[in-house]
Amino acid sequence: MNKFNYYMPTKLVFEDGAIQQLGELVTGDSLLMMCDPFLYKNGMAEEVAKQTGISNVVYFHEIEPNPSCQTVDKATALARENNVNVVIGLGGGSAMDASKMVACLIDNDGSILDYYSSGDRELEPRKAQLICIPTTAGTGSEVTNIGVYTNKDTGIKMPFASPYFWPDIALVDAGLTHTLPAHITASTGMDAFTHAIEAYWSVNANPISDALSISVIRTILDNIETAVKDPTNVEARKNMAFASVTAGISFSQTKTTAIHAVSFPLTVDFGASHGLACSITLPAFTKFVYPGNVDKMDYLMNILGYDSIDAFVERLRSVMTNIGLQTQLSELGVKETDLDHIVDVSMKAALINFTPVKVTRENLYTLLKSIL
Ligand SMILES: [Fe+2]
Repeated sequence: MNKFNYYMPTKLVFEDGAIQQLGELVTGDSLLMMCDPFLYKNGMAEEVAKQTGISNVVYFHEIEPNPSCQTVDKATALARENNVNVVIGLGGGSAMDASKMVACLIDNDGSILDYYSSGDRELEPRKAQLICIPTTAGTGSEVTNIGVYTNKDTGIKMPFASPYFWPDIALVDAGLTHTLPAHITASTGMDAFTHAIEAYWSVNANPISDALSISVIRTILDNIETAVKDPTNVEARKNMAFASVTAGISFSQTKTTAIHAVSFPLTVDFGASHGLACSITLPAFTKFVYPGNVDKMDYLMNILGYDSIDAFVERLRSVMTNIGLQTQLSELGVKETDLDHIVDVSMKAALINFTPVKVTRENLYTLLKSIL
């Protein structure tokens, strides 16, 4: 067994009704609640804020999918004006990712752009308490030190990692996912699946991430179709919430690989949701990586009860069809003439180097063309 490190400093509270514990968990007296417009309008943000017992609350409810650097700066200004010392990111990956950067920038001068992308400044330690509360089962952002931000001026979407991004608390309450629409349950659930399988085949995998990933892969294959088709099935929802946070812990140790690298241009340029942009290449990449990791992938097939990698890939395709996800890039509006651009952008993502088979311009183009 090779040497490895494992580091996960976030306190995880996993319980139905966990938001009722917020009053005991918060440590400050001035709260910034960050969410999308929908969670503000439907009252969930206010309900969660009320549970903290903090009376000094400001809301930033303009978080968009693929949060922009400009949105992060706007929320940071609000937080600084109000001397915020507790930040809650409530929602999917976008709200939680944005909350991580904002919580750090409150006590770091300047804009996100000074630290991210071409910025040359290092973040100083975060002082504000950071609590992440997922309302989808998929992103795992509540247990990672990574945020993904899009610079609207350049159109570049990039992940950013910081030791100060680990939330202090990840509060996972499966009850918050019961009202998720079917298509979001489907796409976010498959996002979690790609986290688990990419962590498993990543060149950075370790025995702990492997154990977590195997558990997640099995749990999602057993539960995602039920969670999509029977949204009030409490057990399936709880299992998906557990799979999502467990996949997050797994890939927090390993990072993701080529699937996530390719997802960036598919979301930015073709408007696909993150989960769909990941799952659409999942079957093809599963076959692609197999030769680089034969023994390990065969071990996984054996545990899951598949005779061959082809049978497993067939099952992935049928799950995606059963839960209503597209399986061909043309269904996202991608044309053959777009493939060079997708390859160019994907090859720039550092994550691609964690794939166990060397990804080249040529083999990536061929892979993408095969699922056009
Ligand atoms: Fe993801």
